[in-house]
Amino acid sequence: MSQIHSTKNKQVAPLSFAAVTETVHTRIQVSFNYPVSFTRDALNLRNMTLANLFPRTLPSSPQIMPVIDSEVLHHHADLPHKLQAYAERHGFNLLSHEVVRGGEICKQEPEAMLEALYRRIADEQVDRHSYLLVIGGGAVLDAVGYAAATAHRGIRLIRMPTTTLAQNDAGIGVKNAINHQQRKNYLGTFAPPFAVINDFDFLDTQSERDKRAGIAEAVKVALLKDSDFFNYLLAHRKSLTDFHHEAALTMIKRCASLHLAHIAGSGDPFEMGSARPLDFGHWSAHKLEALSGHRLRHGEAVAIGIALDSLYAWQTGRLSKQQCADILICLEGAGFQLCCDELEAMNMQDALNEFREHLGGNLCITLLSGIGAASEVSDIDAQLMQRCAQWLIQGHLPHIKLKLDATYGQ
Ligand SMILES: NC(=O)c1ccc[n+]([C@@H]2O[C@H](COP(=O)([O-])OP(=O)(O)OC[C@H]3O[C@@H](n4cnc5c(N)ncnc54)[C@H](O)[C@@H]3O)[C@@H](O)[C@H]2O)c1
Ligand SMILES: [Zn+2]
Repeated sequence: MSQIHSTKNKQVAPLSFAAVTETVHTRIQVSFNYPVSFTRDALNLRNMTLANLFPRTLPSSPQIMPVIDSEVLHHHADLPHKLQAYAERHGFNLLSHEVVRGGEICKQEPEAMLEALYRRIADEQVDRHSYLLVIGGGAVLDAVGYAAATAHRGIRLIRMPTTTLAQNDAGIGVKNAINHQQRKNYLGTFAPPFAVINDFDFLDTQSERDKRAGIAEAVKVALLKDSDFFNYLLAHRKSLTDFHHEAALTMIKRCASLHLAHIAGSGDPFEMGSARPLDFGHWSAHKLEALSGHRLRHGEAVAIGIALDSLYAWQTGRLSKQQCADILICLEGAGFQLCCDELEAMNMQDALNEFREHLGGNLCITLLSGIGAASEVSDIDAQLMQRCAQWLIQGHLPHIKLKLDATYGQ
């Protein structure tokens, strides 16, 4: 509808923008395709997993710059030598490796690491046809992934994850990040890797805590998507906590496959919508990690987050008591502590408000609606959530305990 706006002395008809606006709609479709391999002894000269990533028809040798987690290097001191021998055998142009301080510190204080990497990339003329080969835990993969995605607007990245959690979750997907101003994962990009090679032989040198931490992500994705897998984890919880190889390998492969199927098949690989089902149990976990100053491992915090949201799902009629009990038994049986000081310090109303702000104003939390099924919830009763936290803090879980006694004779 057109209106006349009057100024002091004259009348001015506004421009009809409908008449002057021309819009060109652009549709860009890009598909990504990358292999995630499971192997052992990846740098054995006869193991072709890495070598086969590069077509024989390349006009020149692939240029590769390795970046290694300091703790991985500490425990696998022969890694540079093995990389060199592998490169010579398979005709790579291998640059000398960079070392990045392992653990959350590389995301928390990334400035020096980024500066060193960007400088090396420029000095060595690592370009968009070269490769960074990052070997490390989820934190180093995230931080180096961020550097790779931003230098030259994206250098090809090959990931070799070296922790349970990195092999079954953090290292196989499409995200990277560093922390900024105390905000976890505040700076980051969506950047699918060129390839991922999960070498099981790295895992033995992890700490007991890190061997275990990744199990939480497997419980998470099983609860969301695959009740058979959850039953497997429940039945093998003791083998998993002792890191028996067969159970651990089965757990890692299935967990990684479910994550990948979700990323590729959910229709929202770059998380444009509010719903983030793979972040089940994470709204409180991220807060707990931050409150603990990253004393808690990511997986340890996720285990508590899953327990909390499962109790809430039971209390709101979404899960049966039996199902809730099974989840707690699985997590505790796998060796997780389902309480920590930070949970006591957490005000649920404040934490939910903070999470709502993080999502841009609308709360959207994934809750279980059965084992292997979930739905998004936009309304959470903060008082009830606080009560669920209280049960975890007190540790005696009165209602659940009855069921444990009856079902498992504990
Ligand atoms: N990008 C994603 O999609 C995604 C998903 C989940 C988690 N994450 C991130 O992953 C990080 C957690 O990763 P994590 O659980 O692997 O922990 P981590 O990377 O902090 O590693 C734990 C410790 O183990 C050391 N380490 C790694 N591999 C080792 C080995 N083979 N032997 C001995 N020591 C080894 C590391 O140096 C570190 O000190 C968090 O920052 C989390 O936010 C990212
Ligand atoms: Zn996680």
